[in-house]
Amino acid sequence: MNVDYNENSVITNKKTRRSVRDYLNKPVPEEIINKIIDAGRYAPSGFNLQPWRFVVVENPAILERLSDYAKPVLMKNLSGRTDAFAISHLERLEDRNYNIFYNAPVLILVIGRKSNPRSDYDCTLCAGNIIHAAHSLGIGSCWVGGGTVIQQSEELTALLQIPVNYKIVAPIILGYPRSAPPTPKKREPVISWVR
Ligand SMILES: Cc1cc2nc3c(=O)[nH]c(=O)nc-3n(C[C@H](O)[C@H](O)[C@H](O)COP(=O)(O)O)c2cc1C
Repeated sequence: MNVDYNENSVITNKKTRRSVRDYLNKPVPEEIINKIIDAGRYAPSGFNLQPWRFVVVENPAILERLSDYAKPVLMKNLSGRTDAFAISHLERLEDRNYNIFYNAPVLILVIGRKSNPRSDYDCTLCAGNIIHAAHSLGIGSCWVGGGTVIQQSEELTALLQIPVNYKIVAPIILGYPRSAPPTPKKREPVISWVR
């Protein structure tokens, strides 16, 4: 195998991916979504159990309904907190026009089997593959952790056809980026070398 240490496209892809929160009003073709999920399923998993499944939501009215359900739940979770993050997040959540999924055209829920104690790790690795595969195909993404609260609603989990023995691990929005977000500050690694 030829290894290019200087122009390594995989590393460049990982370093240039950004969380995208502003999308074009343009659908993502189904074959691209399938390609992205296909990259997800090649992630490593404990004992190769691959405890993931995927729910792809493209219906704008349903996406809005999910956001509308999540917002008051997230507000309640943040209430009473006085730290800067909570205050600014609360401000955004109070905005009637704010959609927690940023009006993205696609939401992929990576759901994991509850009975598997490593589901969260495995589905997170799968989600990592998904966001990096998306970026490599020119598709923006953002993991919207707040989206997990939708599973508190039996009505919504039924609507989303999430089996009762599965939980949402990674809600990931996808779409064509309107612009390239700047790179947020990335801290230098703290490394202890033991030699
Ligand atoms: C577990 C997890 C949960 C996240 N939840 C949210 C979220 O609810 N809303 C949001 O806008 N971004 C969310 N993000 C995106 C982070 O804010 C983002 O990754 C971080 O600011 C670094 O920016 P970058 O992804 O462009 O490197 C989440 C990311 C992770 C890994």
